[in-house]
Amino acid sequence: MTSHGLSESEVDEQRALTPGTQHVTHFNHAGSSLPTQAVLDTQLDYLTNEANIGGYEAAGQSIDAHDAVYDSIAKLIGASRHEIARAEHATIAWNAAFWSLPMEKGQRILTVEAEYGANAVAFLRAQERYGVSIEVVPSAPDGSVDLDRFESALGDDVAVVALTHVPTNGGLVNPAAEVGALTKAARVPFLLDACQSVGQLALDVSELGCDFLSATGRKYLRGPRGTGFLYVNSEILPTLTPDQPDHHGAHWASPERYELRDDARRFEHWEFNHAGWQSLGAAVDHANQLGMDRIEVTVKQRGEELRAGLAADGFETFDLGNEKAGLVTTAVPGVAAVAVKSALAARSINVSVTTPDTTQWDAVRRGLPDLIRASVHYITTPDEIAELVAALREIRDGGSLPT
Ligand SMILES: Cc1ncc(COP(=O)(O)O)c(C=O)c1O
Repeated sequence: MTSHGLSESEVDEQRALTPGTQHVTHFNHAGSSLPTQAVLDTQLDYLTNEANIGGYEAAGQSIDAHDAVYDSIAKLIGASRHEIARAEHATIAWNAAFWSLPMEKGQRILTVEAEYGANAVAFLRAQERYGVSIEVVPSAPDGSVDLDRFESALGDDVAVVALTHVPTNGGLVNPAAEVGALTKAARVPFLLDACQSVGQLALDVSELGCDFLSATGRKYLRGPRGTGFLYVNSEILPTLTPDQPDHHGAHWASPERYELRDDARRFEHWEFNHAGWQSLGAAVDHANQLGMDRIEVTVKQRGEELRAGLAADGFETFDLGNEKAGLVTTAVPGVAAVAVKSALAARSINVSVTTPDTTQWDAVRRGLPDLIRASVHYITTPDEIAELVAALREIRDGGSLPT
């Protein structure tokens, strides 16, 4: 990647557009980031109009703005608008894709150690329902999926390959494009959980080679909560029937028959949060304008700065992968992660705690305890990083918190 990260003055400009930066030192962008004022205004204005003239009437007035969001998302990930469906959040998007795939007894689901908890539960449910088996491909020494072992594990009996791009519990970036090339060659459907990578990494679905990509709005895209989307590749789309279509995703053509829409919106339902969707559009436009390449460079740089700052002060970090994104995990020896989180919150510093049950395969293998997850974004400053490291040092050296 040849792009340069955002300059200091550009970061300052971006922070000035973000009201939350005046209130908190936010290291929870991978949980829910801080929106720009424009994203917030889009939502508030829409809600005000709904309250003033009625929800259906407000929707009727904003059809073009609603439709434009598909174009914005398509641009963000190099897709076409017909390949995008609204979703309330990433898990809904992921499940819509997963449960549309035909599966039968004896087939395998191929996945990775860093796979997300919600996805693992769906695999277990599919095991109960269809009699499929779950195969977790071991990781390479750096913690990313081992591509050789992955290639050997592929076969005609694989119902789906499910890969979490950036896991919930650390900075790892899995080699999604390499996996995509292998699944394409093997003609196996590839479902990419991009919940944590969309908005922080520059993504192009044709490079990734995925058939599906699921994403949420509130994390690195800096959109509102309760928003997300699903990408479905146009080649696989006509072969798929959503598990729970309604009369929006399908036309009830006659009392005995329905016809699915011919675009990815066959995965949508009729009702949704209009204000949220348009506000997500504003967040995606913001990312597109700033440039995802530059955002990625900046986020990775800040992540490295935080890891270096922690290491310089003697803190261990637990992030895997030769390539790392903006999620940084650490611990304060002898102090429970939840107590650290509360102590930081008392200083207006936001972090989250990542627990082993969200990524069991990885956490059990590495024997991970609850960890503090501090996630940076392009609006994170070196001063904020210094503030966080100093606060962690105080908590460690103060020594009075619960273990
Ligand atoms: C890797 C990964 N996938 C999926 C999800 C679920 O996203 P949502 O809460 O939007 O459904 C998360 C949430 O943290 C995640 O980290």
